[in-house]
Amino acid sequence: MALFFTLCCLGLSSKVLAQDTFDPLDYVEPLIGASNGGNVFPGASLPYGMAKAVADTNSGSNQGGFTLDGAAVTGFSMMHDSGTGGSPSLGNFPLFPYTNCPSSDIDQCAFPKKTRARYGGFSNGSVVAKPGMFGITLNSSIQAEMTVTQHAALFRFTFPSVGTDGQPAQPLILQDLSDLSDSRQDNGTVSVDATTGRITGSARFVSSFSAGSYVLYFCTDFKGGEILDNGIFVNSRASAGVKNLTVSRSINGYPLPGGAFVRFKSGAEPILVRTATSFISVSQSCSHAESEIPSFDFRGVSDAATAAWRAKLSPIKVSTNGINKSIVTNFYSGIYRTFINPQNYTGENPLWSSSEPYFDSFYCIWDLFRSQLPFLTIVDPTTVEQMIRSLIDTYRHVGWLPDCRMSLNKGYTQGGSNADVVLADGYLKGLNGGINWEDGYAAVVKDAEVEPFDWCCEGRGGLDSWKSLGYIPVQDFDYKGFGTMTRSISRTLEYSYNDFCIAQMAGAMGKTADQEKYIESSGNWQNLYKADQTSLWWNGTDTGFVGFFEPRFLNKTWGYQNPLNCSNLDEVSVCSLQNSGRETFESSIWEYGFFVPHDQATLLTLYGGPDAFVRRLDYLHDHNITYIGNEPAFLTVFQYHYAARPALSAKRSHFYIPQFFSTTPDGLPGNDDSGAMGSFVAFSMMGFFPNPGQNVYLITPPYFEHVNITHPLTGKTASVTNVNFDPTYSNIYIQSATLDGAPYTKSWIDHSFFTEGKQLVLTLGRNESATWGRSVADLPPSLGTYAGFNGTYSGKRMMGARGVRSGSSSGGSYKAGFGVLDGDNWKI
Ligand SMILES: *[C@@H]1O[C@H](CO)[C@@H](O)[C@H](O)[C@H]1NC(C)=O
Ligand SMILES: *[C@@H]1O[C@H](CO)[C@@H](O)[C@H](O)[C@H]1NC(C)=O
Ligand SMILES: *[C@@H]1O[C@H](CO)[C@@H](O)[C@H](O)[C@H]1NC(C)=O
Ligand SMILES: *[C@@H]1O[C@H](CO)[C@@H](O)[C@H](O)[C@H]1NC(C)=O
Ligand SMILES: *[C@@H]1O[C@H](CO)[C@@H](O)[C@H](O)[C@H]1NC(C)=O
Ligand SMILES: *[C@@H]1O[C@H](CO)[C@@H](O)[C@H](O)[C@H]1NC(C)=O
Ligand SMILES: *[C@@H]1O[C@H](CO)[C@@H](O)[C@H](O)[C@H]1NC(C)=O
Ligand SMILES: *[C@@H]1O[C@H](CO)[C@@H](O)[C@H](O)[C@H]1NC(C)=O
Ligand SMILES: *[C@@H]1O[C@H](CO)[C@@H](O)[C@H](O)[C@H]1NC(C)=O
Ligand SMILES: *[C@@H]1O[C@H](CO)[C@@H](O)[C@H](O)[C@H]1NC(C)=O
Ligand SMILES: *[C@@H]1O[C@H](CO)[C@@H](O)[C@H](O)[C@H]1NC(C)=O
Ligand SMILES: *[C@@H]1O[C@H](CO)[C@@H](O)[C@H](O)[C@H]1NC(C)=O
Repeated sequence: MALFFTLCCLGLSSKVLAQDTFDPLDYVEPLIGASNGGNVFPGASLPYGMAKAVADTNSGSNQGGFTLDGAAVTGFSMMHDSGTGGSPSLGNFPLFPYTNCPSSDIDQCAFPKKTRARYGGFSNGSVVAKPGMFGITLNSSIQAEMTVTQHAALFRFTFPSVGTDGQPAQPLILQDLSDLSDSRQDNGTVSVDATTGRITGSARFVSSFSAGSYVLYFCTDFKGGEILDNGIFVNSRASAGVKNLTVSRSINGYPLPGGAFVRFKSGAEPILVRTATSFISVSQSCSHAESEIPSFDFRGVSDAATAAWRAKLSPIKVSTNGINKSIVTNFYSGIYRTFINPQNYTGENPLWSSSEPYFDSFYCIWDLFRSQLPFLTIVDPTTVEQMIRSLIDTYRHVGWLPDCRMSLNKGYTQGGSNADVVLADGYLKGLNGGINWEDGYAAVVKDAEVEPFDWCCEGRGGLDSWKSLGYIPVQDFDYKGFGTMTRSISRTLEYSYNDFCIAQMAGAMGKTADQEKYIESSGNWQNLYKADQTSLWWNGTDTGFVGFFEPRFLNKTWGYQNPLNCSNLDEVSVCSLQNSGRETFESSIWEYGFFVPHDQATLLTLYGGPDAFVRRLDYLHDHNITYIGNEPAFLTVFQYHYAARPALSAKRSHFYIPQFFSTTPDGLPGNDDSGAMGSFVAFSMMGFFPNPGQNVYLITPPYFEHVNITHPLTGKTASVTNVNFDPTYSNIYIQSATLDGAPYTKSWIDHSFFTEGKQLVLTLGRNESATWGRSVADLPPSLGTYAGFNGTYSGKRMMGARGVRSGSSSGGSYKAGFGVLDGDNWKI
């Protein structure tokens, strides 16, 4: 529990933390998601750090490097992504330690990754994972610990006195020219300095979810033991007489194993290995290492990493009274994972020169726009400002905003140009921090107006049809740009929402003609709504629901996709980016049927009114059609708010947490996707869920009696208090609320809650309230007209306008405004 006292001097009033025994790091478990396809990176990183050190295993699911699924360790590397699908990313230039080579013969050490795995067994209990630090003990009794700075990692290997062959230890540490997915292209080069043992080198690798490649350089130094000899290895043979190697990619046994090694006279003292990478040059990697870790001080580096994490997590404080520790651990671990990616590669971009920040590993925005980036906008707006500057600078130099970007390359676009949502979200929530918003606006307009030749990896496809027909046709005729000709329904829905986001920016910037134009095209989703479409189960039983999105041809006749195909229950259809993929991406027509984030009012009417809408949403969840392990499901948990049933959103949130999100290594339902799942947990448990791209958070009761969130720029603390809090979660229904002491019946709140440090008090009860959030005036903003509700409709809807940030980055204040707009002007 935090204790505050007030300091008053020089007319300034500030809260100073006098004594604080609450440490959020006590509740971070980095191993959540280390098995069962979570694919998280559970190793040592700084927030957004480029250096990410961990033990890499040879699991089939090693996208994040380490796994706890019985697979053996094959190396220790320091570049990773987290939670991704695609092929395993990075994991370059792994180190591997041996107690000795049998009979002191270096040729008897097992150099290639495949063969050395036999020394990589470990017991699960030996793994220690904490923010900024990772440790493991191999069955060879070698203990490996690692910590990091921004671009460099420090490993400490502690050896047994006797080696695996029974002879006194004579440790050998190798470093090879591979990566996690064995993607090395062209030649790799490596050199070892005979005197110091410094290993340097470089190689070209393939970016994970992309067709492009990148060159990475490294620099490694040793401290601790007396060097016996050093040299290079190729395949299974090595020599201390050769210090430099250029190894080809090869066609067989690709890529050829090759690297360098350093051998030590004894294992009496721990051997420290400092390694850094750079996308610029070997010398830049060496200077990162020398400047960031000058003295090989393991304790000092790891303490600094711990402190950086504590500083990032401390703005959020919850009361832990009466609740199971695993609930708190779930929460802070989710928050922790939102800070791993994107990665700050500022100063490390060889592709263009610019004074703007450069962030990489937006992997992918289709996953991140929904809640991960909005979460960071609350707790770390300064960094999101830098990320947005980086996105805009990428547009300047590459031509379009990315949808996915990793390891210096454009990744594949999954649906719409969803960076538009990220920019609108940041703009409406008042982010500034040196962002050139005119350029940002030009970037989103280019998405809407200019089709790239290769829309595989940026922008949108099918723009001629989009403009002439008002939808993306199935089997489109597009001779101007090229991409996978699938996903016509989900692309239409996402492009519609992207246009709404552009319209909101246009409106807030005073570009009225653009605003009207993009409001108009944001209604294109309706062109794929087939009012008489039914949905039957595989066995012929009718679900009873009528009216679904369906594909449409160029000649405006309807195609057909079973609304249940690509759902969680369809184990046959191909639904990702394959050429044989379907008209919805990684999700069913049923689930995409709710993806109209800007016009729930019209959607409700199409679905037969609020009660029918609720029945359909219940059916989606109760019949496992949706799958909470993929991001399109997130918003559907909370969309009951739009039907004036916020209690059902709260109930649904508790249906999924903790049953589908728990604190064990197998505790995630799907890929964490750079912290997307983590942010879903964090927002749900904090009691707000964003409708991303809008200045709107849907309110549900937090999972804690109290939550305090201090805004890092304004210094003000927003708080939520649950009156009648029940740690067994029977009382999860809001009966009434006050905001800054005044009654508050709206079921949503805007971003000024966080910037201005408002106080929300929720009174909870065991049953759904008949009044709170139940009348039309309480509903979240929407285009269209809410109809069919009990109670009257005022004829006016509110559209979130821009929050304005003023003042310096160390202080200043925010003013979030709301413009009341006449509903009729917003009709589609
Ligand atoms: C380690 O844990 C994973 C899952 O958590 C399990 O699959 C594996 O079998 C465990 N290994 C051992 C040796 O217990
Ligand atoms: C490593 O040791 C653990 C615990 O003793 C054992 O379960 C596991 O099988 C060993 N792994 C290998 C590859 O020897
Ligand atoms: C690889 O190295 C060889 C030998 O130095 C050289 O002939 C060849 O051009 C190199 N290939 C590339 C792609 O750099
Ligand atoms: C080996 O590599 C180092 C570092 O790149 C270089 O300085 C040295 O000249 C090379 N030696 C030979 C024999 O090529
Ligand atoms: C939130 O802040 C208030 C006011 O400073 C304080 O009284 C309360 O203890 C804090 N709650 C938590 C959970 O830290
Ligand atoms: C706390 O939660 C964990 C995980 O759900 C459960 O195993 C444990 O029994 C709970 N402890 C108590 C005291 O309820
Ligand atoms: C990103 O890195 C640059 C260069 O090191 C630094 O100036 C900037 O503050 C970093 N951004 C964050 C959010 O740490
Ligand atoms: C058909 O399948 C659905 C969904 O699994 C199920 O609810 C229904 O009971 C089945 N009907 C028959 C007649 O088996
Ligand atoms: C419309 O196009 C589809 C797909 O090419 C075709 O099957 C259908 O016969 C066409 N219908 C008409 C009326 O032209
Ligand atoms: C739709 O899903 C069902 C159930 O998995 C499957 O049998 C059917 O082949 C799928 N249809 C298509 C066109 O993929
Ligand atoms: C939904 O899936 C869960 C877990 O996969 C299973 O326990 C449950 O029985 C399923 N429910 C239905 C209605 O199929
Ligand atoms: C409207 O009132 C009826 C009867 O009280 C109730 O069943 C229904 O759920 C209410 N609808 C909404 C949206 O509140």
